[in-house]
Amino acid sequence: MQRHVSDEIRHAQIFTKAVEREGYYIDLESEAAQQALSSVGEASMRRYHQVENLAEAPLPNLLSSILLAEELGLRGFRCILMALPDHLTVTRAAIESVLKDEEYHVRYLSDAVRYWRASHLLEAYRRDIEDKLFNDLGKVLEFMTKPASERPSLVQPGQKPELSLV
Ligand SMILES: [Fe+2]
Repeated sequence: MQRHVSDEIRHAQIFTKAVEREGYYIDLESEAAQQALSSVGEASMRRYHQVENLAEAPLPNLLSSILLAEELGLRGFRCILMALPDHLTVTRAAIESVLKDEEYHVRYLSDAVRYWRASHLLEAYRRDIEDKLFNDLGKVLEFMTKPASERPSLVQPGQKPELSLV
């Protein structure tokens, strides 16, 4: 898991650099960034398991939910690679390198879930997430059919403005 944590930190650095090389910067103040921060990562895991601290969640439950998130991430990265415009070569290379790590995460977490005999938890979480997705299908469709120019953007063209100390 220590390797997993350092992989995820490295992924954030890889994507930040890739976005900069393509001539953009990640706007952490944007609506898209705020939405992303509340819907992925530790905050969403704490909410999902209804705990203040992830250490309070039973390990097999935690590992199963992380595995599901990793599987969804893997599918997401594969979809992005298929849809990515050809000229974004740096981004493609970044996603391909991240994808290799994500495949490793799914493998070791699958082993861990088997070790803890927690496959039933994984399947229960999968059904729960599917139910949530279908309950929110209206919102998903609305997002998917909205032109990209009208969606909140995570990136802005140019360089990240320097922090003002005044
Ligand atoms: Fe991962």
